[in-house]
Amino acid sequence: MKDSTLLIPAPLRDYMLAHSVPLDAVQHRLIEQTTALPKVAHWQTAPEQSALITLLVRTLGARQAVDVGSFTGMSSLAIARGLQPGGRLIACDITDDWTPVAREAWQAAGVADRIELRIAPAIETLRALPVEPYLDFSFVDADKEGYLEYFEELIVRTRPGGIVAFDNVFRSGRVLEPVKEADRAVIEFNTRLAKDPRVEVVMLPVADGMSLACRI
Ligand SMILES: C[S@@+](CC[C@H](N)C(=O)[O-])C[C@H]1O[C@@H](n2cnc3c(N)ncnc32)[C@H](O)[C@@H]1O
Repeated sequence: MKDSTLLIPAPLRDYMLAHSVPLDAVQHRLIEQTTALPKVAHWQTAPEQSALITLLVRTLGARQAVDVGSFTGMSSLAIARGLQPGGRLIACDITDDWTPVAREAWQAAGVADRIELRIAPAIETLRALPVEPYLDFSFVDADKEGYLEYFEELIVRTRPGGIVAFDNVFRSGRVLEPVKEADRAVIEFNTRLAKDPRVEVVMLPVADGMSLACRI
């Protein structure tokens, strides 16, 4: 299982997880399959994030959602599970390398029919969506240099009260001392998001940092 939330010691994180919604068999299998992948296993959305995402989607009464960077399917699974009956999720990824793993999990969880996976650069997928404020919830966890553009495309499609959530806004703490280009991109993104008058932003210390931008 992914070793985050960043700032919480392991025993306290274990306690936190033990007192939250437990992982089910589908999530356990998805974690096992993803953990076995070389180099990319750490990309997977953390259990505490998954639980929070499902809860947010459910409390929003969401029917229309987007997942940017679906990978082996954990975040899409979390979103799809929280949708109202008849709800739809557009899942975006640039590659179908991990599509079989994702589809197997969605099928096993009984949510495959709610998810439409679009394989293309996410910016193209987002620009092709209707330009109307109809989205209830989006989760962004793809290339960090793209975050500002993803935000611009998503916010004009998000209804008032809807949420756009962004993962890895701490960059493992490197937003305080940037090392990589992606760190600088997230610093710029965090600065711009916090000042954007179209949203109220809450940055949460969940996993590697997760910002919730609520459309005013
Ligand atoms: C950190 S992983 C996402 C993890 C996923 N949210 C989960 O729950 O496990 C990032 C994903 O973004 C995808 N990605 C990277 N650049 C992209 C782009 N320009 N457009 C769409 N997807 C992209 C990668 O292929 C990868 O699957």
